[in-house]
Amino acid sequence: MDQAGTRVVHQGDGVEWLRRAPLPPDHAIVTSLPDHSELPRLGFAGWKSWFTDVSELACRQVADDAVAIFYQTDVKHDGRWVDKAYLASRGAEAAGSECLWHKVVCRAPPGITTFGRPSYTHLLCFSRTLRLAPGQSSPDVLPRLGEMPWARAMGAEACEAVCQFLLAHTACRTVVDPFCGLGTMLAVANRRGLDAIGVELSPKRAAQARQLEIRLPPRS
Ligand SMILES: C[S@@+](CC[C@H](N)C(=O)[O-])C[C@H]1O[C@@H](n2cnc3c(N)ncnc32)[C@H](O)[C@@H]1O
Repeated sequence: MDQAGTRVVHQGDGVEWLRRAPLPPDHAIVTSLPDHSELPRLGFAGWKSWFTDVSELACRQVADDAVAIFYQTDVKHDGRWVDKAYLASRGAEAAGSECLWHKVVCRAPPGITTFGRPSYTHLLCFSRTLRLAPGQSSPDVLPRLGEMPWARAMGAEACEAVCQFLLAHTACRTVVDPFCGLGTMLAVANRRGLDAIGVELSPKRAAQARQLEIRLPPRS
């Protein structure tokens, strides 16, 4: 039987919240940074710099042995792919963090031609000092996103894989999502007994994130 964790959702600026102080050692960041279409005031080049800077900030604000995990779907912009895994990796490198794993989550079956958004999502995990032995490996390709409460949500099955990793291979027992949207990651973390803290700029979404429940299949 799953034990529910606690959940706190702040309405406000996730970047300002992150800047306030480094996080305690048992806190992991698991987030999906906004796409450039969500931050039009920055312009495209400005958004790319913002994305890299915020990835760096997230990696800096977790403790040495903790992790920052990014769930990001690329987009096509003006005839070019925008590789968000690359942007997050640049931020992580600037923070002195290394990639522990890079998973691909299928959004559509292999062999499908996509336009606009690809048939995969990146899931990347960074840490400054944590290292994983070969026996701590887990699947690189996740076959499904799982339930998504809205189009920009993280997939619940991907969130579940993140929780399994945190519980098995880290000391992190609180998940922080500074751009929590409707709170998919928070709801899945709670289901698996992890505490969760979210920050969301939109008052409406912040309110919804306080209430969201996600049903998960029982763990085998
Ligand atoms: C990609 S969506 C996250 C979706 C979320 N993972 C979910 O499952 O619902 C990005 C979210 O960041 C929010 N956002 C944009 N700028 C923000 C900021 N400065 N601080 C906090 N939230 C912000 C947007 O309102 C949007 O809900």
